[in-house]
Amino acid sequence: MRVIRTVATVRRACARFRDAGESIALVPTMGALHAGHLALVRLAKRRCDRVVVSIFVNPAQFAPNEDFGSYPRAWDADLAALSALAVDLIWAPGVRDMYPEGFATRIEPAGPAKVGLEDAFRPHFFGGVTTVVAKLLLQVAPDIALFGEKDYQQLKVVTAMAKDLDIPVKIVGLPTVREKDGLAMSSRNAYLSASERAAAPTLHRVLKDCASHIKTGRPLPDALAVSRAQIERAGFVLDYLEARHADTLAPVMSRKDGPVRLLVAARLGRTRLIDNIGV
Ligand code: PAJ
Repeated sequence: MRVIRTVATVRRACARFRDAGESIALVPTMGALHAGHLALVRLAKRRCDRVVVSIFVNPAQFAPNEDFGSYPRAWDADLAALSALAVDLIWAPGVRDMYPEGFATRIEPAGPAKVGLEDAFRPHFFGGVTTVVAKLLLQVAPDIALFGEKDYQQLKVVTAMAKDLDIPVKIVGLPTVREKDGLAMSSRNAYLSASERAAAPTLHRVLKDCASHIKTGRPLPDALAVSRAQIERAGFVLDYLEARHADTLAPVMSRKDGPVRLLVAARLGRTRLIDNIGV
């Protein structure tokens, strides 16, 4: 397994794979890897001859008041986990390799990036994500790139970006990997105190209950109102709990409006958790 630090080197290494007729999968991450990330890597290995995992905590997707400085970094453990899975390349640029002096371009996504979910609370976020993901896709030129449904809106935004910019890659999504108690795995779960960790699975439990009530015919607005109150009673500060069209993320008023996805973001102390589920 090679660790690569410069754009020129990663391009050369990937070109060698392509010249040998080998397919390439890219798994973009910000490190502090957990079982959700590793599931993406395993799927990547099943789908392609070569797997490149990028590890880059991307300053462009954090607002000044967010946790860029304190975002968990676990380089040695990440390396050990990826080496155990026999990943081919780790692409780990420094901030100055990704954004050299004079860097002045930013993608401004719309469509699924402007639907009033994450974008309403983190207005800078998807511009930063699409800019870095476009760069990663152009640097590695993979056949497929894998993203988790855990970040459902991100998956939709990245898929639209690659299509709109004619980047020849297939974006592949993976269902959310959860702890035994239902909590969606996330690098940020490391921030939770013991009592917050005990309360955190409520989010998934409420989503599941909400989905089953909707399936049995309860009107969407009623089901959402009950679930919002349950989340707040469990000690969360709710950013949103919404029912949206699973493909477009447009608001839906009833199940007749199309396949429904429930999406939630809520804060427990200083930790912001997101989750989502299909109905
Ligand atoms: P990061 O949060 O490190 O996540 C990397 C990938 O792992 C994303 O596609 C995310 O959706 C997926 N993932 C995280 N938790 C998961 C879980 N519990 N189950 C399944 N997949 C999970 O998302 C980012 O980094 C960044 O925004 C990035 C795309 C790398 C751009 O900087």
